[in-house]
Amino acid sequence: MTLRIISGGRRGFEAEGLLVVGAAEIHTMAGGLRRGPAQGDTAVLDAASAGGPGSPDAPVVATWQSRIVAVGSRRAVERAIAGEGLPLERFAPLDADGGTVTPGLVDPHTHLLFGGSREGELLLRQRGAGYLEILASGGGILSTVAATRAADEEALAAHGRAWLGEMLAHGTTTIEAKSGYGLDLASELRLLEVAHQLGREGPIDVLPTYLGAHAVPAEFRVRPDGTEAYVRNVLEEQLPGVAAQGRARFCDVFCEEGVFTAGQSRRILEAAAAYGMAPRLHADELAPSGGAELAAEIHAASADHLGNPSEEGIAALADAARSDHPVVATLLPATTWFLMADHVAPARKLIEAGVPVALGTDFNPGTSPTPSMPLVLTLACLTLKMTPSETLTAATVNAAHALGLGDQAGSLEPGRQADLVIWRVPNAAQIPYWPGADLVRTVVKRGRIVVDAS
Ligand code: NIG
Ligand code: FE
Repeated sequence: MTLRIISGGRRGFEAEGLLVVGAAEIHTMAGGLRRGPAQGDTAVLDAASAGGPGSPDAPVVATWQSRIVAVGSRRAVERAIAGEGLPLERFAPLDADGGTVTPGLVDPHTHLLFGGSREGELLLRQRGAGYLEILASGGGILSTVAATRAADEEALAAHGRAWLGEMLAHGTTTIEAKSGYGLDLASELRLLEVAHQLGREGPIDVLPTYLGAHAVPAEFRVRPDGTEAYVRNVLEEQLPGVAAQGRARFCDVFCEEGVFTAGQSRRILEAAAAYGMAPRLHADELAPSGGAELAAEIHAASADHLGNPSEEGIAALADAARSDHPVVATLLPATTWFLMADHVAPARKLIEAGVPVALGTDFNPGTSPTPSMPLVLTLACLTLKMTPSETLTAATVNAAHALGLGDQAGSLEPGRQADLVIWRVPNAAQIPYWPGADLVRTVVKRGRIVVDAS
């Protein structure tokens, strides 16, 4: 079997539409953000109960140009196509061959762009060094900052392109990409510009996030008031520059004991919101730091990590979930796994409290060097005790909502972007069940076949 990544999509392929047929299961995720017991509802259509994949009642998906036109039984979909006045003969059949169809995966938390690598820290951690200890001694994020500042736009773009290819091959069709390894205005702007350009290049959609408050850079650490002086630099110099550039959709802060306090995070995120950048945050990754509470208070799009939130923080997210401003809890189990952490996110507690849960890779060179959302689904089942269905919801519709894209991506519904994956397994529970296997057969992005491993 060969994997073909077809850059830019379906060249020379004349049909404007696709009819995805022959699936054993289609998980549509229709119906919006999921929480509580609905977290595990994938709105599945299965062929077995409709007379088998070849039956006229078997579920199919039709896409026209970049959008989904209809999903349902083949008969109903063909009627819908005719009802839209579209020519059925221009829909090319795409055979799922007994596989499973899901929306394209959405990765709502990545640090896509950076220079260098940090494999040496794995050895340090095996010998007992703590993550924040390595950072405090000038390693960790700070060593990546030095390598990133030294990398030019072309080098960063080449790196980003290569890792986006890996993500696509694992079924991801939309990502968020944070800056945060520049930590000065010029370098942060370079990261945001490259992220934006990579999204324009496609096929993966890339949503840039400004994360100037990721760490205090070396030149500020030598000052007695280093953290506060750097926060002022973020507020007075970086944020206005980032806003003027206009690439960042979101602003993020590493709100953590020993990094930025909840008070400093609030000041930065409120200022960013005034510039039109929606808040999201690294919240309570290692210790209860008021991050979950702050996310609820400022109506953040998502609170990420939550490896060790307080009870009050969980309650605040539960309250937000019942309000008009639900905060998505974006859990990152590859990070706790790779850090060999004592604490993992209380996913069951969050789901039982009615908090909508998403999953992301946290792709970065220090704590989670994996581009693979399927691996994250496995880790969420094994370490967070989420069910396979809950993980699929978390990686599609809920992840799209965490990025404010709930009406565009993350589900297979008429009008949504035609982003889907055909998996080489007969049911979705097998996606997390075969860790390390390449299960992606075909990826369709905005109606174009962009990966073909059939
Ligand atoms: O999400 N915790 C903060 N930021 C990243 C790690 C960054 C790094 O170590 O380079 C994270 O885990
Ligand atoms: Fe992160």
